[in-house]
Amino acid sequence: MFDGDVLTNKEAVWCWDYSLTDPKIASLYEKSIHGQWRAAESLDWSQAIDPAQVGRGIGGGMLSPGLTDRLSTQQRDSLMAGMGALTFSQLLHGEQGALMVSADLVRLLPSAEMKQAAASQANDEARHLDVFTRYIGRMGEIHPPSASLRRVLEKIVAHPMWLAQLVGMQIVVEGMALATFLDMRKAAACPLLHAMLDLVIKDEARHHAFGKIALRDHVGMLESDDRQALQAFALDLVRIFRDWGTEPEDMIASAYVMVGAGVDPTDMIAAVRQSALAGHPLDLSRGMRYAFMAFILPDLEQLGLISPGEAQAIRTTLPSSENELDALDRLREELVR
Ligand SMILES: [Fe+2]
Ligand SMILES: [Fe+2]
Repeated sequence: MFDGDVLTNKEAVWCWDYSLTDPKIASLYEKSIHGQWRAAESLDWSQAIDPAQVGRGIGGGMLSPGLTDRLSTQQRDSLMAGMGALTFSQLLHGEQGALMVSADLVRLLPSAEMKQAAASQANDEARHLDVFTRYIGRMGEIHPPSASLRRVLEKIVAHPMWLAQLVGMQIVVEGMALATFLDMRKAAACPLLHAMLDLVIKDEARHHAFGKIALRDHVGMLESDDRQALQAFALDLVRIFRDWGTEPEDMIASAYVMVGAGVDPTDMIAAVRQSALAGHPLDLSRGMRYAFMAFILPDLEQLGLISPGEAQAIRTTLPSSENELDALDRLREELVR
């Protein structure tokens, strides 16, 4: 089935043989059909939400004690709601990337059931775009994509190898999304968000499984040069994501939210520094650490796309407690069946 000629996305890849080649992918497609839901009807959008509370749940690591003391309740609430909208905006942009790549993959993937699975994923991602746009409308404004996210999405969309698009979207971006959604589901106490994430998490888990199965079947057939190119691409994306939040544009985005909340960014940065020096560093990336530990690094290792040494070098830059990861694992087992 695999043919080196189908590596580039310059032309559509036709599949004239409709016999079943991978029952696991066909079964994911069937599951997707049965798991369809509707953004408008499946959720009760009349429920009230508390943007500050939601923001505190997902971005509360920003509130160092030194800073909390200096802010009024109104400033604190406004800051948390703004940081929440900033985070949800990144998820929305990621959903658009997933929509575009999965739609592209319909044209590029080599087998009929892979094309069907990618088409049903595009349908899911369109719904995700819908629910996140609606939810952000309740939280605040839509912010631009972070520099890291934009770079990752652009690299995936433009890559000439469909296998690289699968690695980038299904393993790296979907792994990040799935972990972030699980972390949010655990941290934020909003019934509407819980209901929405319960639906989205099931979809994302299916997309992630689809990517792993499809890649397992095809990475082994690659010539050495193509495999090396794929490994380099995966490592590049992992490194860009690991550095999320450190780009000047990311700091400007956070400063914009702070100014909107009536908080002086320089004051806030000083409080953050002081708190870190006192042994209380900010915890902005719990979901991201979980993504690397539970999904991205183990998946890339299993696929032979990252060496154990490279994976370990990245792990050491992401200190995580066993308890934190175990709690998210338990939630994953509960929600993804
Ligand atoms: Fe999605
Ligand atoms: Fe997805």
